Amino acid sequence: MLTPVHRWIWSDTDRRVQKLLRFSETETDGGRDILRAAEVTSDPLLRRLYLEHAIDEFRHGVLFRHRAAELLKVSASGSSPGFHGDWLAPGGHGLDDLQVDGESDRNMLAFLHLSEKAAASRFTVYRDVTQHDPSTRAVFEEILHDETFHMNYTLMQLARVEPKRHRRHLWWARLSRLWKAYLRLATGLAGILGSMLLTIQYFVLLPPFAWLARRAAHQERSGWTMVSPGHSDSLDRQY
Ligand SMILES: [Fe+2]
Ligand SMILES: [Fe+2]
Repeated sequence: MLTPVHRWIWSDTDRRVQKLLRFSETETDGGRDILRAAEVTSDPLLRRLYLEHAIDEFRHGVLFRHRAAELLKVSASGSSPGFHGDWLAPGGHGLDDLQVDGESDRNMLAFLHLSEKAAASRFTVYRDVTQHDPSTRAVFEEILHDETFHMNYTLMQLARVEPKRHRRHLWWARLSRLWKAYLRLATGLAGILGSMLLTIQYFVLLPPFAWLARRAAHQERSGWTMVSPGHSDSLDRQY
């Protein structure tokens, strides 16, 4: 349904550069977190898979950055477009929600599986709307291949680690992602509503006070004012 919007977002070269650079950061950060997961897991097979996974994510970061650099060279303006469409076309994983330390293998695998699934579906859309830019499309195609592997191995390992209850863990992970998405949305909305209320207060409440202050200022006499003689009779008190 949003394909025309995505096509429009990816049609602009400068916007494409900004998005690829942001994706590069997301992939590299995700790789760093998965590297940490490899350090903390006590399962030797998972450690090896996580290491390979982390290397893939670092490579994705480099691929996105190199493509952004190539586009930047041919970009005429080199300026940053005002609208990036980040909430409409976000980065792949949502791995920024990942809390590695203290997480069990089953939770980690469930979270990774859903993140990789989200990445695979987003990159499929981005690959399909970049036909006009074959090199960027090829980058998405290559990365999509890895994301599909990540999506599959995490599900298989989850079923190995937790053979009977892996579906339940997936549902918990889904609910957790939904909750975090809701919190992000609510925070964004609260920010917008707060700005609107402050703007309304500024234009509605401030003018009457400004008018009263100006009127009071006009009623004040300027310069020194003579005090009536009766008020300065006493010399044994300050006022
Ligand atoms: Fe990736
Ligand atoms: Fe991945």
